[in-house]
Amino acid sequence: MPQNASHYPNALIILHWLTFILIVLSYASIEGREFFERGTDMRDNAKYIHFVVGLSILLTTFARIMFRLTSIVPAALSSGPQWVIKATKLGHSLIYLFLLVMPILGWLIISAEGKSVDIFGMTVPSLIAEDPELGKTLEEIHETIGKFGYALLGGHMLMALYHQYVLKQQLFNRMKITRR
Ligand code: HEM
Ligand code: HEM
Repeated sequence: MPQNASHYPNALIILHWLTFILIVLSYASIEGREFFERGTDMRDNAKYIHFVVGLSILLTTFARIMFRLTSIVPAALSSGPQWVIKATKLGHSLIYLFLLVMPILGWLIISAEGKSVDIFGMTVPSLIAEDPELGKTLEEIHETIGKFGYALLGGHMLMALYHQYVLKQQLFNRMKITRR
């Protein structure tokens, strides 16, 4: 994988910040459903937004990984404390895994519950046969990983600020859209 640019290509930067917005929407919609009574349209709408946004995260992540593997990107961090270098590598890998596993689990839950999601007039196909018990188990796993996501993504943001303002490594410049 080529690695020597001073910043990420604009396409990857746009995908990074788009993912950030989608993640915020995904959490806000599913946590926000609790403000509405069960069975109301508003609650169903909140869930629908969660499904559509979540599936969009899956699409953007595939696109991002393809770009990432074929683009020239900045070299991995090599200066600073060893634990920070290791935590950064592990953290980024876990984030990519999270961005793939969560939407796929969500899609499996919907399939196992026998529900269908329509996006732009198309019905998202079921991944597995209807199985409510399996749906419940998958939902528990999805919710647990979702809670872990707060720590993972919160940690990522704190580390970004730590790199920038404590270690003064100016990593934000690598994730800032620039005219070239
Ligand atoms: C919550 C949603 C977010 C996700 C899913 C996410 C994900 C990622 C991933 C996977 C990378 C690694 C890029 C690569 O090398 O392939 C990355 C890099 C980066 N992120 Fe985020 N990020 C999020 C939010 C943020 C926020 C809010 C900030 C700023 C406070 C931020 C700042 C950065 C910076 C500066 C880098 C570049 C690090 C480097 O060049 O080594 N991210 N992000
Ligand atoms: C990165 C993407 C996703 C994230 C971060 C995420 C996060 C979450 C979280 C945190 C919860 C639990 C909320 C709570 O504890 O009350 C949840 C619930 C749920 N999610 Fe996701 N999710 C994602 C994608 C998806 C997708 C793509 C689908 C389906 C197409 C989906 C379907 C569900 C369902 C069915 C529930 C249970 C809702 C309920 O019973 O009311 N999720 N999700």
